[in-house]
Amino acid sequence: MNATRRDVMKLIGAGALGSAMLPRVAAAQGAGAAVPAAAAGASNAERDLTIVNFDMLEEEARGLLTPGRFAFMGPAGDGWTYRENRRAFGDYPIMPRRLQGISDAAIDVRTQLLGQGLPFPMITAPMGAHGMIHAGGEVVTSRGTGAAGTLYVSSGASNATMEDIAKATSGPKWFQIYMNRDMEINRWLVQRARAAGYTAIVLTADALGPGQSDEFIRLGRPFPPNLRPGNHDPARGGRGNFFELKRDLSFGDIGFLREASGLPVVVKGVVHPQDIRQCHAAGASAIWVSNHGGRQMDGVPGAISTLRDAVDAVAGRVPVVFDSGIRRGIDVFKALALGANAVALGRPVLWGLAAGGAGGVKNVYAHLTGELRTALLLSGVAKVTDLRREHLARI
Ligand SMILES: Cc1cc2nc3c(=O)[nH]c(=O)nc-3n(C[C@H](O)[C@H](O)[C@H](O)COP(=O)(O)O)c2cc1C
Repeated sequence: MNATRRDVMKLIGAGALGSAMLPRVAAAQGAGAAVPAAAAGASNAERDLTIVNFDMLEEEARGLLTPGRFAFMGPAGDGWTYRENRRAFGDYPIMPRRLQGISDAAIDVRTQLLGQGLPFPMITAPMGAHGMIHAGGEVVTSRGTGAAGTLYVSSGASNATMEDIAKATSGPKWFQIYMNRDMEINRWLVQRARAAGYTAIVLTADALGPGQSDEFIRLGRPFPPNLRPGNHDPARGGRGNFFELKRDLSFGDIGFLREASGLPVVVKGVVHPQDIRQCHAAGASAIWVSNHGGRQMDGVPGAISTLRDAVDAVAGRVPVVFDSGIRRGIDVFKALALGANAVALGRPVLWGLAAGGAGGVKNVYAHLTGELRTALLLSGVAKVTDLRREHLARI
């Protein structure tokens, strides 16, 4: 796959997500430097972390990455939705029960998602271009996620190939697709994912608009030219042009992906109850409530504010995954109490990757699981699968 100058102009003009993956427009670091561009300014850490909280971990990651690489994770627009993703958790205070006779030993955070047993209700969200964060890219992130024992969702915008990512993780895995205008490329991608051992296809529905923070743009979109979408790289058996994104996504695409892959299809980024009902009618096997971590469209509600109505629209027919703003064990508690079956971690995984490589990713899960266990114990709830809306003071 070659992003030509024409592709570049088209994407910048249309503001597609893929523009975050384009060759840099202004050099931010070391063309021709001794360090390969993929590694220059990215971390190569591999160590265990002592995590106090994710705000501190974020600051650690900021200190380790060049400003452009850090800004790659930034929010869209004014960052209103990004901030709202955190603030709105405050709209759902927890109503703890006391004297419930529950001890540490009774706390059980295991769950199931699409028939897959998980040690805790947290999975890794699909995120593109981990080569921006760590020299080892997605291979390191997926290894860390597998070491934590949970599910890795491989982004269609990964720098590594889906096969290399699949081999690196010992855990379950799903493949997320950014649909291409060429339906044969879509068919080829999902069949390839199935052959590589992915057990579900995630269709991302909310990434048709700008996906870059103002800071990333201000810094000249410092994307090293050699960090390509790995699945499309001809040098690695790839084909098709990643940047030729299909914009006219429709409910019919769910059926196409199901038929083409023979796998369950999870639709990510849908929030309107009517869209959710239509996704279900079109054959979606799970709904993923998300606003892309405020990285696509600014001005939409905080994701947690949309979860209750989404869960009601699903009406228990299929599982619900939730992401955008999960930073604390109590956030996981609240999302599950509102009706999500599992949550996905986005930026905290990348911060852990930057600070500690695969070990850091594993530590992110250990930290959040510890906080979740404490929240359950202090609320008198033994099992995550027992969480209900009655465990919240207001809904
Ligand atoms: C750097 C970055 C890249 C992302 N790339 C993708 C992607 O390729 N596909 C996708 O479906 N979502 C992508 N997302 C969105 C995440 O899957 C997830 O929805 C979001 O990160 C959750 O918000 P949080 O990070 O604030 O918790 C990306 C997010 C970030 C921060």
